[in-house]
Amino acid sequence: MSRVTVVGLDGGPLREAALAALSRAALVIGWPEHVAAVRPLLPPRAEVRVIDRDLPATLDAVAASAGEVVVLTDGDPGFHGPVGALRGLRGDVAVVPAVTSVAGAFAAVGIGWEDAHLVSAHRSPPHHAIAVCRRFPKVAVLTGPALGPAELGAALVGLPRRLVVVEHIGRRGERVTAVDPAGAAARTWEDPNVVLVLGDDPSGAGSSAAVAAEPLWSTPPRWTPGSWALPGDLGGALAPAAAALALAWLGPGLGDLVWSVGPAGRAEALAAQAQALGAAALVAPGRPRDLADLPDPDAVVVCGGDHLHTEVVRSAADRVRRAVVVVLDEARREAPSIGALADAGLVVERAALRTAGAAGEELAFVVLRGSRR
Ligand SMILES: C[S@@+](CC[C@H](N)C(=O)[O-])C[C@H]1O[C@@H](n2cnc3c(N)ncnc32)[C@H](O)[C@@H]1O
Repeated sequence: MSRVTVVGLDGGPLREAALAALSRAALVIGWPEHVAAVRPLLPPRAEVRVIDRDLPATLDAVAASAGEVVVLTDGDPGFHGPVGALRGLRGDVAVVPAVTSVAGAFAAVGIGWEDAHLVSAHRSPPHHAIAVCRRFPKVAVLTGPALGPAELGAALVGLPRRLVVVEHIGRRGERVTAVDPAGAAARTWEDPNVVLVLGDDPSGAGSSAAVAAEPLWSTPPRWTPGSWALPGDLGGALAPAAAALALAWLGPGLGDLVWSVGPAGRAEALAAQAQALGAAALVAPGRPRDLADLPDPDAVVVCGGDHLHTEVVRSAADRVRRAVVVVLDEARREAPSIGALADAGLVVERAALRTAGAAGEELAFVVLRGSRR
């Protein structure tokens, strides 16, 4: 079977390797605007198929062709492009990249991006991209049908973020607009676009002090701490062993929104630990009405609380996407908590823990995990 060459386009001139592949091609496949852009460069004998943003149809056309094929796509085909799918079809895939839209967007505002997080709204539900934008101060979002600049702005209203929307990068009609989240939510935007979600720091770079302090060697940089749930991290709010188990069962990470519910010291300490592991975290006191207006969580930790504790666990269990972890230091709350988790259809696990407090006193905890399977 002969070769497939995936050629990226960015509005600039084509590279030598792309011109050579086009000159040899028996079949050229691309979106209407891409085919129009290369039309004068095509050999007259090449068959041209215009397939508009339909990957399965593109793969079918490639599979049905015996000759050399060029697939045209945007930016760097290896970055959220068709390279992986084409490799699954044919072994011999060559890639000729152009400038990715992310690089184009950062270039349009003149800031570096080695410390950025890059997320795509095409391949996951919007809440993951939103959680990353809540948590980190420099994020590039490849927008999609379910999450455009307006939806992203609406989800970030009230947070210290500014959005730079870059439409039609490298093309006629390129437009760069800086807005606050509410401003983004109030407008309509043209596709395609990339949104840079930046922290509100005065340097304008959206970088954090933690990142700027060290030379960067990875993208995104390592954000996770070398240890967590040690006594000093928790300010005495919770026994370290109980916090460590709660965090392990909570499993907070990039793209998660975590609710940390309970008395102020404990809830804040656990939220900080979840954030250190890459999640966005919201702290809420232990009353069900405090939870009503929060966005749905991926994971919830409930750590102590008053007579409304069981109702809080029930509210969390009804809305959580992945798991609720309950840390109890009072045996009488155990059975109602297990009942609330199970009533919401969650699978319940339990661990009992004995550990020593700061003065050497023995402390007993029960940790419950209700998970959606
Ligand atoms: C499936 S991804 C492909 C990314 C592409 N491989 C790249 O390197 O930019 C499609 C998304 O990339 C972004 N995008 C691609 N081309 C763009 C352009 N010319 N202007 C603005 N955004 C663009 C949009 O967010 C679009 O929804």
